[in-house]
Amino acid sequence: MKLVRTVDEMAQVALSHKVGLVPTMGAFHEGHLSLFRAARAECATVVVSLFVNPAQFGANEDLARYPRDEERDARLAEDAGVDVLFTPSAEQMYPEGFATWVDVAATGGEAVARPGHFRGVATVCLKLFNLVRADVAYFGQKDAQQAAVLRRMVRDLNVPVDLRVLPTVRDEDGLALSSRNAYLSPEEREQALALPRALETGRSAADPVAAARAALNGLDPDYVEVIDVGDARVLAAAARVGSTRLIDNVVLEGELR
Ligand code: PAJ
Repeated sequence: MKLVRTVDEMAQVALSHKVGLVPTMGAFHEGHLSLFRAARAECATVVVSLFVNPAQFGANEDLARYPRDEERDARLAEDAGVDVLFTPSAEQMYPEGFATWVDVAATGGEAVARPGHFRGVATVCLKLFNLVRADVAYFGQKDAQQAAVLRRMVRDLNVPVDLRVLPTVRDEDGLALSSRNAYLSPEEREQALALPRALETGRSAADPVAAARAALNGLDPDYVEVIDVGDARVLAAAARVGSTRLIDNVVLEGELR
């Protein structure tokens, strides 16, 4: 039994009943692990969901080839101190007759480039928050627009969960870590560096969009845009490198929390 004599410690004990959730689609990298560790530091129970959510992939996207390695992921999660790895099947998450969707109105960026994507993300995340009874859920700034969409949903639907948004983890050369980086050949990975470099160039320019576009070094962007993500504005871009679609963003103003 724990004996508590101070109000501060008592408050901590109450807090320590918190359940933290990190929703993921697997193929873990340091970006995911940074979220696991943050949850571990703040919550009594850490749940990681690993579910490659079909509802957020378009018909011509990479659902079938999305990298999957459950054994490796389970090992990494365990090493990071995760208590529960939740890996439901598609049938579990979307049983016959499933008919309810969460549609958060969002504009620009991924909302336009991937119609229906955020509907799939919002729906699965609300299901996960409810299933896990999460007190806190952790997301990466790498997907800043996704975090903003989820924050809007949580506010609009009075979902009893706190969201935390943590900084993008990058490789030493600046490329944002992504499960999709596994698709890149060595030459493509080199080309992909133009994306973070262009955003960095745009960040300090008078016209961030024009400067970033000009610095893309031949990469063909889906968009380069300044996007409002709640308390912050980010310079965001998506570009294809070979058949791999990468996204990235840098904060221009405000703070993503
Ligand atoms: P996934 O791409 O697996 O990402 C899971 C979480 O890790 C997201 O919050 C994402 O923003 C974060 N993340 C990815 N790369 C990161 C990086 N380099 N640095 C920091 N955080 C990073 O995002 C999804 O899955 C799905 O859309 C999901 C929310 C699980 C819903 O299906």
